[in-house]
Amino acid sequence: MAVSSDSARWEALAAVRTRGDVGDGIASVLALLGRSDVISFAGGFPDPETFPRERIALLLQEFTAGGELSAFQYAPTRGLAGTLDAFADRLERLQGRRPAADELLVTSGAIEALELIGKSFLDPGDVVVLEAPTYLGSIQSFRSFEATIVPVPLDEQGLDVDELERQLGQGLRPKLLYAIPDHQNPAGVSLSAERRATLVELARRFGFLIVEDVAYRELGFEGDSLPSLWSLAPDVVVQAGTTSKTFCPGVRLGWAAGPAEVTARLVSAKQLTDQCASALGQRLFEESERRGWIDDQLVRSRALYQRKGERMLAALERSMPEAVHWTTPRGGFFSWLTLPGINTIDLLGRAAEQGVAAVPGTLFFPDGRGADSLRLSFSLVDEEEIDEGIARLASLVRSGLSPRLGQ
Ligand SMILES: Cc1ncc(COP(=O)(O)O)c(C=O)c1O
Repeated sequence: MAVSSDSARWEALAAVRTRGDVGDGIASVLALLGRSDVISFAGGFPDPETFPRERIALLLQEFTAGGELSAFQYAPTRGLAGTLDAFADRLERLQGRRPAADELLVTSGAIEALELIGKSFLDPGDVVVLEAPTYLGSIQSFRSFEATIVPVPLDEQGLDVDELERQLGQGLRPKLLYAIPDHQNPAGVSLSAERRATLVELARRFGFLIVEDVAYRELGFEGDSLPSLWSLAPDVVVQAGTTSKTFCPGVRLGWAAGPAEVTARLVSAKQLTDQCASALGQRLFEESERRGWIDDQLVRSRALYQRKGERMLAALERSMPEAVHWTTPRGGFFSWLTLPGINTIDLLGRAAEQGVAAVPGTLFFPDGRGADSLRLSFSLVDEEEIDEGIARLASLVRSGLSPRLGQ
């Protein structure tokens, strides 16, 4: 009794913006995901096999033996000078544009960049356009600033920019548009070159800021990529990047690159969140980048994820009924399944009982859509268990489909 009245008491005191509800059905599916006896296509985490543990140990030894102090001290809010320089070099090399000193800051991961952007630009009721489906963390982040979220659909070519233009023509006036142009989470698709050009033109014409999340950009299986939105239009784009998938999430490190006036606001906001990103993480990344270790790691990570992704797609091809569709990722961690006529919250509840997990589609929409879809992640699942996991899922799908669809 005391517990429930306590929880009611704190619920009453909690800020309205923290009371967002993801729904019981979803929560009950998510509760099953941590089980070790489950073949999980749920978590969007990197494979620990990619973590450069020996090299990190070597660097830590060098830092301590060499009397290095900056790794263990507070850092400037914008970032350590050497780390900023390493990020700028990397952006110049990989994206063809070098941010000026006042256009870049180091963040505690991409999620912090989203938090700083929301804090700096959103008042309650301001409009944010998102791709639908999109990264759950972004929905939660923009919601926490009480923004009005407007989902615009995407397809195999990424965000439907014609639909966006139509809505802008009808008076939609977003402050921010959040997009993941490369190997999108959760859809596994990339924004086409033509649509990139259209999108930045719309941002200029209608005066909104594009928030470009490049979390999976460097994980293209072929190592290739289209021009980033930020490199195409540094006047209207702030790019949020992360080292979580290219180095390791444990260092909680990322960057934001954008117009000087924008990054200055982010630096101000950061003084009130963590004051500075982990100096130790900054130094580990900087040294790894300088020695070519990040590129080296990426070569191996891409090959691993490509192998896993292809194995999963082959298993889907072999075992899923014809009515089921999925995207074919060319990088990143995800494929998006559409299962017409099937409620995937129910399906995945039963799947967990059969020892297989994935994430139901509704979680990736801000408005309850996506009930007949789900996200499969191939990044963390044990390679040897992929075939069995997909076979189990397919057999449940077959039993859940109407006889007509199941043929
Ligand atoms: C699209 C996207 N952005 C950002 C993040 C979070 O990145 P970080 O670990 O840098 O906070 C993730 C992690 O899953 C992601 O999928």
